Amino acid sequence: MSRYIGAIDQGTTSTRFMVFDREGTVITVAQEEHAQIYPAPGHVEHDAAEIWAKTQKVMKVALAKGNLTPKDLAAIGITNQRETTVIWDRKTGKPLHNALVWQDTRNDRLVSEFAHDGGRDRFRDLTGLPLASYFSGLKLRWLLDHVEGAREKAEAGDVLFGNIDTWLLWNLTGGPDGGLHATDVTNASRTQLMSLKSLEWDEGMLSTFRIPRAMLPKIVSSSEVYGEARGEFARVPIAGILGDQQAALFGQTCFTPGEAKNTYGTGCFALMNTGEEAVPSKAGLVTTLGYRLDGQKPVYALEGSIAITGALVQWLRDNLHMIKDSAEVESLAGTVEDNGGVYFVPAFSGLYAPHWNEGARGLIIGLTRYANRGHIARSVLEATAFQTREVLAAMEKDSGIPVKELRADGGMVANGTLMQFQADILDVPVVRPKVSETTALGAAYVAGLAVGYWKGLDDLKRNWGVDKRWEPKMDAARRETTAAMWSRAVQRSFDWKA
Ligand code: G3P
Repeated sequence: MSRYIGAIDQGTTSTRFMVFDREGTVITVAQEEHAQIYPAPGHVEHDAAEIWAKTQKVMKVALAKGNLTPKDLAAIGITNQRETTVIWDRKTGKPLHNALVWQDTRNDRLVSEFAHDGGRDRFRDLTGLPLASYFSGLKLRWLLDHVEGAREKAEAGDVLFGNIDTWLLWNLTGGPDGGLHATDVTNASRTQLMSLKSLEWDEGMLSTFRIPRAMLPKIVSSSEVYGEARGEFARVPIAGILGDQQAALFGQTCFTPGEAKNTYGTGCFALMNTGEEAVPSKAGLVTTLGYRLDGQKPVYALEGSIAITGALVQWLRDNLHMIKDSAEVESLAGTVEDNGGVYFVPAFSGLYAPHWNEGARGLIIGLTRYANRGHIARSVLEATAFQTREVLAAMEKDSGIPVKELRADGGMVANGTLMQFQADILDVPVVRPKVSETTALGAAYVAGLAVGYWKGLDDLKRNWGVDKRWEPKMDAARRETTAAMWSRAVQRSFDWKA
C-alpha cells in the first residue's frame, strides 16, 4: 500500500493539491489562484480550462515539493466549489462558455418566473432546495437558452454538463478519450435536479427546467474507486468526491447526528449532520446530502449557506484598497473598541440562508462623522459572525438540537478577533481543530476509505483534536442589542434590486 493519499481542493478562488498521511498530517501542498471574471454586475465566471490547467500544475508541483511520485499515492480524492456550472464538448473537451460561478445571479429572472408559479419553495420537498440563483440547475438552463447550439448538441449527447467535480474527474480519467462522466451525491444534491429520496435525476425536474437527460453525469457514491487517472498520474485510483462543504463536515468527523461545523471561506457554510433522515427546513436552510459511503445508506445534512464572508475582506482589499492583505483586516479592526454603530450587510449576491432574497444588495449603515476605517473593518468581520448566528438559529429551529459548540475551519479561523466575536455573539464556544485543512482532508478521507487506507470512521475520529477554543464573554444585554441592530440593517438591504 502506498504511503499517502492525495486531495484536489478546487475552490472558488484557488486550487490546491494536498497530500496527507494516516494521521491526517499535511505532507506537501501546492496552490494556484485562478482569474475571477466579472463581466457585469451580478455576473461571476471562471475559465474551466484554466481551472483544469491549474489543477494539473498544483498536482505536479506538490509532488515535486514533497519529493514524491504518483506511486506514493494510494488514491486521490476530489473536493470542489459546488454549483459552479460547466458545459463542454464531449469530443474536443472544450467548454462552450465560461463556467457560471455559484455566486452568479444572472438567472434571477428565471428564478422569479418559476417562483411565480407555485412559490419559491415549490421544489423543496423533492430537492431540499428553495428556488434561488445559487443552484446549478437554473444556471444550466440559462446556458442552454443563451449559448448558440448548446441545446441541440446537448440533446444529441455531444455536450456534457458538470459541476467542477465532474469536470475534473472527466479530465483526469481521459477527457475526450473515454473520461468518466460522473458526480457524487453531494454535488448532485446542489443542482436541484436530483430527488433527495431516490438519489437519481428526477424526470419531473428535468422536464420543468428543460434539461436534456443525455448531458447529465451518472450519480455515484462519495467513496468508491470510480476509475484510474491517466497521463502523469496514470493508474492512481480516483476514489472519492465530496462538495467542499460536505468535505469539511467529513474532515471535521461530524459523523453523529447533531454534530455541526462552520467553514469560514469565500462564504460561510454551516452544516449539521442529521443522520439517515432528510430533515425538511422551515427556517430557511437547505436540506442536502452530507455524504454516502459505498454500499451504505446516505447521510443527510441541514445547511446554512452564506454567500459573502471572506469575500468581503477581499473586496475591502481589492475594490476599496483599504488593506494590503487580508490578514490586515484584523489589526485594522483592532484599532477600535467596537463597531462604533456601523453595520455592513454584504448582500453582494442577494442574501442566501435564511433569507433567500435575490434582490437584496449590500449596504453599510450607521455611519456618522465618528466612523473611521477601523469601524468599517470591524463591521466587515462582524458581518461574518452575525450571518453565522442567523443560520445557526435556523438550524436549532429546524433540527430541534441546540448547537452546544461550533467546530470552525477555513481561512478566517486564523482571525482571533473574529473567532472571539463569533463565540460572543453565539454564546457558545467556538473550537478550531488541530488539522484545520478539513476540506482537503475530508476528500482524502473518502478516497482513503474506498481503498482501505483507513479502515473505518473510528480511524478518522482518532485524528481529530482541539487546537484552540474561544469561550463566550459578552454580556447578554449587549449581545441582544447588537444582534437586533444587525437584523434591522438586514431588513433594509432587502429587495433593493426590484
Ligand atoms: O456552495 C459554494 C461553496 O461550495 C464554495 O465554497 O470554499 O470555494 O468558497 P468555497
